[in-house]
Amino acid sequence: MIKAAIFDLDGVIVDTAHYHYIAWKRLASEFNINLTIEQNERLKGVSRIRSLEIILELGNIQLPEEEKERLASKKNAWFVEYIESIRPEEIFSGVEELIQSMRMKGIKIALASSSKNAPRVIELLKIGHLFDAMVDGGMITHTKPHPEIFLLAASKLNIPPANCVVLEDAEAGVEAALAAGMKCVGVGATAQLGKANKVVAKTGEFDMNWLVAL
Ligand code: G6P
Ligand code: MG
Repeated sequence: MIKAAIFDLDGVIVDTAHYHYIAWKRLASEFNINLTIEQNERLKGVSRIRSLEIILELGNIQLPEEEKERLASKKNAWFVEYIESIRPEEIFSGVEELIQSMRMKGIKIALASSSKNAPRVIELLKIGHLFDAMVDGGMITHTKPHPEIFLLAASKLNIPPANCVVLEDAEAGVEAALAAGMKCVGVGATAQLGKANKVVAKTGEFDMNWLVAL
C-alpha cells in the first residue's frame, strides 16, 4: 500500500531539465563537443560534477580537479541566471492537482532532487507548502542512481521504503528508486525508463487510482 509519494523536481514538476541541458550544451560547445539530447539523458539525476565528467569523457578530455570545479561553477552560474525568471505558471499541467488529490487521501508528499538549486526553484514556483519533507543535493553524499536521496526522504516522512512511490524522469532516478525498494513511476519515454513500474509521458497524466496496481 502506498503511503508516500516522492517527487523529483527537474523534468517532473517543471521543465528545469531543459535549462540544465542548455547550460551544459553551452559549456560543452567551448570544448567543441556537441552535446545531443540523447547524451543529455545520462546527465539527468546525477550530480553537477558527475555531469561535467560525463561530458569531458565524451570529448576524451582530462582536466585537473580545480579546473573541473571552475567549469561546474560556470555552468551553475548560467543555470541560476536562466531559472531566475521561472514563474508558478510553468509548473507542468496537472501536477499541483495530483499532489493535492494525494494529500487528500492521506498520502505524504516529499521532494527529492539531486539539485542544490532545488530550494530556490521551489521558492520561485511558490509550492513549498505542498511538501511534508524536502531533500536536495546539498543534503546527500551520493546522488542518484544511489538510493540515499529517496531513503532519506522516506525517513523524513517516517514511511517505510516499501510504502513509497517515486516519480522520476531520469534513468538514474528510476534505478535509485528501485534500489531503495520503492515503486517507481517513470515520466518520459519507455526506451529510457522501461524499468519503472509504470511509465507516463507527462506527470499530469498519472492517475492516483493506479497506485494500488503498481
Ligand atoms: C538534478 C538534475 C541534474 C543536475 C543535478 C544537480 O538531478 O536532473 O541534471 O545536474 O540535479 O543539479 P545542480 O543544480 O546542483 O547543479
Ligand atoms: Mg529529473
